[in-house]
Amino acid sequence: MKHINIAIDGPSGAGKSTAAKAVAAKLGIIYLDTGAMYRAVAYYALAHGVDPLDGKAVEGILDDIEMNIVYRDGTQEILVCGENVTPYLREAHMSKAASDISAHPAVRLKLVELQRKFARENDVVLDGRDIGTYVLPDASCKIFLTADTAERAKRRWLELAEKGNKQSQEEVRADIEKRDYNDSHRAFAPLKQADDAVLVDTTDMTIEQVVARVVELAEKSANKETEL
Ligand code: DC
Repeated sequence: MKHINIAIDGPSGAGKSTAAKAVAAKLGIIYLDTGAMYRAVAYYALAHGVDPLDGKAVEGILDDIEMNIVYRDGTQEILVCGENVTPYLREAHMSKAASDISAHPAVRLKLVELQRKFARENDVVLDGRDIGTYVLPDASCKIFLTADTAERAKRRWLELAEKGNKQSQEEVRADIEKRDYNDSHRAFAPLKQADDAVLVDTTDMTIEQVVARVVELAEKSANKETEL
């Protein structure tokens, strides 16, 4: 039986993970945060003194990274070589390291293989940058979430400030702009809206409205799948 695969792509701060979690809960399916997988590779590289920009050195450690994704109380945890690295992945410096490391084709190929296997075996909503264009071009539902840069920077700044991060809104905006540029200009599977993805601009939407719209699109496509 073909599984439900919902792809939510877009730049950082557009509301992807909040929307994806809500869709997963509503449809009773799994949420896979693919960004966390790139962050976990970045964490391992930094912990082993490897510069995320150094493609050769990164390739040298890839075979040592045994990644497992588990769910505890419905929440995703990433184990790298048996260690639960999840608590370290959302730190601000890990965002840049993940973006840098994600540009290396060997890293992407390794993680994309895991993501495709996951989608073959489970009903899943995945969020990322290249899910609709590259990882799952046949996904049953593709959504591209975006919002203007100032709004995304404000959201990310609030999220970081809540965790005690002292960066100014301008610094957060500069980081986001740099990461958007990196992610959409890399040669291999860059951040891009798939031709058949539904665009949702969340700039003037509340998070509740974003969730409602994404759930509506996902349910519509899930119903279509079951009618086939
Ligand atoms: O979604 P996030 O902010 O946790 O992602 C961190 C970085 O990982 C992002 O800047 C680019 C990379 N990434 C990617 O290249 N492809 C994905 N499917 C998900 C994330």
